[in-house]
Amino acid sequence: MSQYIECKDVVKIYKTGGIETIALRGLDLVIQEGEFRAIVGPSGSGKTTLLNIIGGMDKPDAGTVIVDGEDITKYNENQLHEYRVKRVGFVFQFFNLIPTLTAVENVELPMILLGKPREERRKRAVELLRRVGLGDKINRKPGELSGGEQQRVAIAVALANDPPLILADEPTGELDTATGRQIALLFKELHREMNKTIIIVTHDLSIAMYAERISRMEDGKIVMTVSPAEMDAYVLAPSRTEEIVAKLEARKREIENEIKRIENEFKSGIISADTFVSKYIELKNILARIEEELKKYTLT
Ligand SMILES: Nc1ncnc2c1ncn2[C@@H]1O[C@H](COP(=O)(O)OP(=O)(O)OP(=O)(O)O)[C@@H](O)[C@H]1O
Ligand SMILES: [Mg+2]
Repeated sequence: MSQYIECKDVVKIYKTGGIETIALRGLDLVIQEGEFRAIVGPSGSGKTTLLNIIGGMDKPDAGTVIVDGEDITKYNENQLHEYRVKRVGFVFQFFNLIPTLTAVENVELPMILLGKPREERRKRAVELLRRVGLGDKINRKPGELSGGEQQRVAIAVALANDPPLILADEPTGELDTATGRQIALLFKELHREMNKTIIIVTHDLSIAMYAERISRMEDGKIVMTVSPAEMDAYVLAPSRTEEIVAKLEARKREIENEIKRIENEFKSGIISADTFVSKYIELKNILARIEEELKKYTLT
């Protein structure tokens, strides 16, 4: 596998009405050829900005964005246009279909931009619609399709010119959970079949889990990249922590009760001062160690 995308020290600053917003602050990212990557992170962390820059829809203020060996930040408008039409397929949250065109006409549109002959266009559009499960609805207009179906058409549109790179920004954001999962599964299947590099931005971790690796963005940077299995462990960690804390606290109460018990025994003359002091010191030491342990878990 070779490196397909490399973002190095990418900075993007938006200036509106004298106010500057740093959307990307020195972002580094490497994605391998044919990789399926999810990007998650809080609202405003820069996910859309990053996708727009990788897709050639926006330019960074600093840094380099290498795609397939070329720095796309150096492209002029014509080169960027060609890059967007031939080398990238976009899928958005709000489906972005032309409402007056049928499904099959929507899928043909990007091929018209490349001057593909009519017959060839239609054949490929029908094949792609079949592949996304809409073979029987090719003549429906977007308004006559469900949200999930519209997103399937949008995915077929993105695949029309057979671009090596697919970028999807919150493609399940408008869909219910079950439909969203079907769309995520479709991306996974297409990835396996077509060997495309796919980047999907989502705030939904259950959608991100369909990818091969998951990157988390915070405040204009990638702060973590893990596999779904590692993400699982990471997400489960809080409940495990709770369990450990509960056990430590129970043990702490036992020791405290034990201390009370020997205090009473000493007061009522059942044990000697020597026995009391040695036991007391021993129990206090155990208590201190438990409290040390507890601090580790409760500070996070
Ligand atoms: N066109 C713009 N002009 C000014 N500021 C912008 C513009 N687009 C984005 N920003 C700001 O840049 C930052 C990153 O925005 P971006 O849209 O990339 O975040 P995001 O991670 O996609 O968020 P969300 O999850 O809400 O879609 C935010 O602070 C946002 O307000
Ligand atoms: Mg966004």
